Amino acid sequence: MAEQTGTAKLTIGDKELDLPMYSPTLGPDVIDITKLYAQGGVFTYDPGYTSTASCDSTITFIDGNKGELLHRGYPIDQLAMKSHYLEVCYLLLYGNLPLAAELEEFERTITRHTMIHEQMHMFFRGFRRDAHPMATMVGVVGAMSAFYHDSTDISDPRQREVASHRLIAKMPTIAAMAYKYSIGQPFIYPKNSLDYASNFLHMCFSVPAEDYEVNPILARAMDRIFTLHADHEQNASTSTVRLASSSGANPFACIAAGIACLWGPAHGGANQACLEMLKEIGSVDRIPEFLARAKDKNDPFRLMGFGHRVYKNTDPRATVLKQSADEVLELLGVEDNPLLQVAKELEQTALNDPYFIDKKLFPNVDFYSGIILEAMGFPTSMFTPIFALSRTVGWISQWKEQLSDPAHKIGRPRQLYMGEAQRDYTDVEER
Ligand code: SDX
Repeated sequence: MAEQTGTAKLTIGDKELDLPMYSPTLGPDVIDITKLYAQGGVFTYDPGYTSTASCDSTITFIDGNKGELLHRGYPIDQLAMKSHYLEVCYLLLYGNLPLAAELEEFERTITRHTMIHEQMHMFFRGFRRDAHPMATMVGVVGAMSAFYHDSTDISDPRQREVASHRLIAKMPTIAAMAYKYSIGQPFIYPKNSLDYASNFLHMCFSVPAEDYEVNPILARAMDRIFTLHADHEQNASTSTVRLASSSGANPFACIAAGIACLWGPAHGGANQACLEMLKEIGSVDRIPEFLARAKDKNDPFRLMGFGHRVYKNTDPRATVLKQSADEVLELLGVEDNPLLQVAKELEQTALNDPYFIDKKLFPNVDFYSGIILEAMGFPTSMFTPIFALSRTVGWISQWKEQLSDPAHKIGRPRQLYMGEAQRDYTDVEER
């Protein structure tokens, strides 16, 4: 626990409370209000948690004003350009970059957990073929609780470790199976000879009828997308996983809860919504019409892929993805992709528009990822499953961190009750 570095004085009526303050390694100081209700008889009020730190953590730091993102202190652009996803998984899980032997052992372990229980194949067949792959993933990942009983006891560190490895290893297999099922093609088993990103592309795009060669540049772009989505501090889905875990729920149930939360278009579902928006805009000459809608208070339309609760400057992930988009589309010979042209013109127009400047709305991680994924051959319905696959290591790392804190307790927020005061029941004849 952090050392007290100051005191905040709070006057409530005739009471004056001294609340401890702590100073982080990076970021704003915090005021500890754990005793506020007991001492002051009041709650704080912060719907959406715009000013609330829900925990202390050592995993990821975001500076929204500078547009910085650090994983265990390492800047995301360095990790995206110099590292690879499984090494970043090791960093997030264990706190430091691995030595060569540690990395080799970790990659071997993950590789050997990529198959799912054969009977789970039957579970997919209960879904309609046109089920959204996120619906399938929520169901299948939750159902892992029914297949892997030897890694559900959260009080056993070894079982926590095995569950972490199983989830990181099996999410690509489950996501690829959800995709194959939705297009009526047979499931493709993982191949241990392939790296993590190549294996995912293989399971998604190969068919039994012919050989499939993974394009190494697409595999690199895929791996970079995984890395850029790996963790992001206490976002909505990570907070969901932490809250689910605080009740003692098993890891598979907690990750299923995270997948469900990520699905929303305000969160991980924005990558699918963003590409659908770019397709609806269709051409650069329709951009003014959509910008006007985004600014119209009476229109619920928002510019998907723009804005962020924390980033009030550029999202560093979007910067890397924009570069990757250029590389991938050039490789595929579709650099004149009309969607990319619309995206770039929309970005430039919005960034010079007073509304977006005043509200500090910049492209976020979801703005360019969809363009790359579509160019790689994925349908929009697979964009959020890929986000969920990538974020599993972040959810698991935060889940492990919370469980390793002996002082952790069940999360149970209070409320500002604005309903009816007590009143007596009346029979229907008297109403
Ligand atoms: C992710 O939290 C994370 O870290 C998430 C994430 C991660 O890695 O886990 O980074 C992943 O979820 C990225 C965000 C993806 N979502 C979208 O791209 C959807 C579009 N964006 C918005 O819905 C919105 O910007 C949010 C949800 C991302 C942030 O919402 P906030 O912080 O609650 O901000 P807000 O809704 O209070 O908006 C502030 C103002 C409002 O105007 P006023 O009421 O003050 O007049 O900005 C406006 C909003 O109307 N605004 C937008 C806008 N986003 C905010 N106006 C037009 N288009 C937008 N995209």
